[in-house]
Amino acid sequence: MTRKILIGLVTVIVLFIVIQFIPKDYNQDKQVTLNNIATVYSMPEEVQAIFKKDCYDCHSNNTNYPFYAHLQPMRLMLDRHVRNGKAELNFDEFGTYSARKKRSKLRAISTSLDEGTMPLPSYLIIHRDAALNPRDTALIKSWIRKVNE
Ligand code: HEC
Repeated sequence: MTRKILIGLVTVIVLFIVIQFIPKDYNQDKQVTLNNIATVYSMPEEVQAIFKKDCYDCHSNNTNYPFYAHLQPMRLMLDRHVRNGKAELNFDEFGTYSARKKRSKLRAISTSLDEGTMPLPSYLIIHRDAALNPRDTALIKSWIRKVNE
């Protein structure tokens, strides 16, 4: 019985070590981008700060990697979120979007706030402080109304 537990334990440890060799993506482009959303529209510092803190990990060209993100399998999940998140909306590439796409993305941000779908719930488990409070939501929505009328 103890022998079985020992074998099980060793297997788990070996598996954990093996998956650490799965290649990781690095979403870090230190360059100053001219296409950032804040160069496209005038945007209050406060609104910029909210997007940076709560959305940039998955919707920009620069992700902040906390310690657990250097471990698998967490990194695989984060890398997938970054790939899919950036494909839908990238605050650093906003300036490259067509006028029509810009409008529709701003509307989508508003909708995501109304529906409470962003940031992703799985991300909020660890990044509790990224949850939007009513004040953040109101600030962003009134900014969007201003630039997207
Ligand atoms: C943990 C990663 C993550 C964070 C943080 C995050 N998102 Fe997302 N977001 C995604 C992913 C992945 C998608 C792609 C669709 C999906 O899986 O729901 C997405 C999709 C979206 C979309 C849909 C785009 C469209 O055209 O329909 C909007 C809008 C959006 N996010 C806004 C935000 C905002 C605003 C924040 C910050 C308050 C935020 N997201 C934070 C991962 C994230």
